[in-house]
Amino acid sequence: MLDAEVIIVGAGPSSIALSHTLKHKLGLNDFTIYEKTDGPGGVWRSNTYPGVGCDVPTILYSFSFNLNPNWSKELCEGSEILQYMESTVDKFDLRKHMHFHIECISANWNEKGFWEVHLRDLLTNLEYTRTAKVFISAVGGISKPRDTKFPGMETFQGEIFHTARWNHSYDYRGKRMAIIGNGCSAVQVVPEVANDVAFVKQYARSAQWYHERPNRSFTALEKWCFRYIPLLERFIRLRIFLASDRMVAAYGSTVEAENLRAKAEVHARDYIYSTAPAKYHHFLVPDFPLGCKRRIFDPDYLETLHNPKVELAPHGIESIDQTGITSTDGVRTEFDVIVLATGFEVQQFLVPMEVYGRNGRSLFQQWKENRGAQAYMGTYVHGFPNFATLFGPNTFPAHNSVLFAAEVQVAYIARTLIAPLIDRRISTLEVKQTVENQWVNGIHAQLRGGVFEAGCSNWYINSNGRNSASWPGYASTFWKQSVQPQWNVFIKMPHSRWWVLHRLKRLVVTTSPQVYALLGLILLLNSQNTIVATTVSNVLGAAGSFVNVFLGY
Ligand SMILES: Cc1cc2nc3c(=O)[nH]c(=O)nc-3n(C[C@H](O)[C@H](O)[C@H](O)COP(=O)(O)OP(=O)(O)OC[C@H]3O[C@@H](n4cnc5c(N)ncnc54)[C@H](O)[C@@H]3O)c2cc1C
Ligand SMILES: NC(=O)c1ccc[n+]([C@@H]2O[C@H](COP(=O)([O-])OP(=O)(O)OC[C@H]3O[C@@H](n4cnc5c(N)ncnc54)[C@H](OP(=O)(O)O)[C@@H]3O)[C@@H](O)[C@H]2O)c1
Repeated sequence: MLDAEVIIVGAGPSSIALSHTLKHKLGLNDFTIYEKTDGPGGVWRSNTYPGVGCDVPTILYSFSFNLNPNWSKELCEGSEILQYMESTVDKFDLRKHMHFHIECISANWNEKGFWEVHLRDLLTNLEYTRTAKVFISAVGGISKPRDTKFPGMETFQGEIFHTARWNHSYDYRGKRMAIIGNGCSAVQVVPEVANDVAFVKQYARSAQWYHERPNRSFTALEKWCFRYIPLLERFIRLRIFLASDRMVAAYGSTVEAENLRAKAEVHARDYIYSTAPAKYHHFLVPDFPLGCKRRIFDPDYLETLHNPKVELAPHGIESIDQTGITSTDGVRTEFDVIVLATGFEVQQFLVPMEVYGRNGRSLFQQWKENRGAQAYMGTYVHGFPNFATLFGPNTFPAHNSVLFAAEVQVAYIARTLIAPLIDRRISTLEVKQTVENQWVNGIHAQLRGGVFEAGCSNWYINSNGRNSASWPGYASTFWKQSVQPQWNVFIKMPHSRWWVLHRLKRLVVTTSPQVYALLGLILLLNSQNTIVATTVSNVLGAAGSFVNVFLGY
């Protein structure tokens, strides 16, 4: 028995983008989203640590189908982004498709051509199975906290938690706090807690590149303009997108890229020297190229290092005991609370969910044999029909909005898999193994010699030395590759010879009332044979072709 046509796992931003497309662009209502937490929003729901926020201007870090004229500032805090995610879900009536507190444990493709998806209700512990024609993973790439273990950690008698699992019932005011790590999460926490704790000691075993992060609040007039001046916010968004994309030019291995990088490094070094206390300068400036680790846009962290309550220890962790930490330089310090800002299991895509494709083939096994996760366009995996993954391998933009990449993938999946299935043009779709391998080899060839593998420790590279995370070029290139899908890369099982009729039906159903009104107007004007009629129909024709080429499914 078929319960749902499409099952999506995860209700983060990628899933919201996908469900909006399914419902409002493709007219599909037969889809269900299973989410293990208590609501939508993904990382913005689980990361509630003090200072959590966006480092991509929020006008860009938002959905193209729901621009927000009310952003309070250029780079918003996590709570405001979560509120935006929630309101997007309600505005587009997506919540009724979402089931919370449900974890997907595994999924397998059966011989009848369906996905059997095994779920666990986290409130009742009951396990059950649902069947779907399409199975889509939207479990996120930076979602599962890294399971860091330090010798003696289990004996610590104070509080210990990860940034992505912040314990809000613990009052850290006046307490002695340790923060382990100096990635984006850690440097957002330090300035927020510095004045409230007894002291904070941060353990950082390697350096980072820091840049200014000006963050201005929008005035009431600006918000009014965003709301009422047509296309203004969209234009600003495009400008931010292009500026962010230009940064990528400094990440390659060409002489031009090296020159650009050198300039950016000079700028960042000047910023570090002019902002941070001199006693930390020797440690703060990295000896690896800029971009090797994700650049940090400084939320007043370097300035906070002047605070006498803050100490930066440029060391790793030797051990933890009942009341304190001994760092790798042998110094022991006592603490009440330890914050693990130690990052995420980025390389373990989909873990711990098990996925089995044709002939019971395990996705993890397949990826293990490939020395890392891989997918054609970061989306499709050979041997796994009607399966797609959002924010998948090699889709992480170097410094752009992940939402852009997710929306590109969503449109690609809609065009290549969902629309043809709804139209009954195909019954299954699977990428060819040779195509997947060639595409992935191409990505790795582009990544070779670039900054990501310049010798620093980062979360892009897996234990086999393969970069399964990064998209190697411009975010706009990813979009260009997805816009005109190559159909011969897929193995497709044809479905109905009458698919054109189904396509027409979908066109009729999904065409908006405004378009029908415009068509009516054109017909009316045409019957009068005026020059206006010809102009209107020409403009609409041109707009129609644009929409068809760039957005059509
Ligand atoms: C603190 C933080 C700040 C960030 N800031 C930025 C930024 O400024 N700009 C940017 O572009 N990116 C940023 N990112 C990256 C961020 O991961 C993406 O922007 C975005 O959240 C990806 O959305 P997603 O829906 O793919 O994944 P997620 O947001 O990770 O959502 C995945 C969802 O799937 C659920 N899930 C996972 N496994 C299961 C399962 N087995 N069963 C059921 N549900 C499951 C999770 O609970 C979660 O809700 C940030 C990440 C973090 C952690
Ligand atoms: N919008 C934002 O500003 C924002 C905020 C938070 C997160 N994010 C996203 O999430 C990603 C992850 O950020 P993150 O800061 O959570 O993680 P991260 O960048 O992976 O940083 C983890 C930190 O923990 C340290 N660490 C890990 N294991 C350790 C160990 N065993 N001993 C000592 N130190 C250890 C790392 O040191 P080494 O570097 O030496 O390994 C690093 O300093 C970011 O890159 C970004 O994409 C964005």
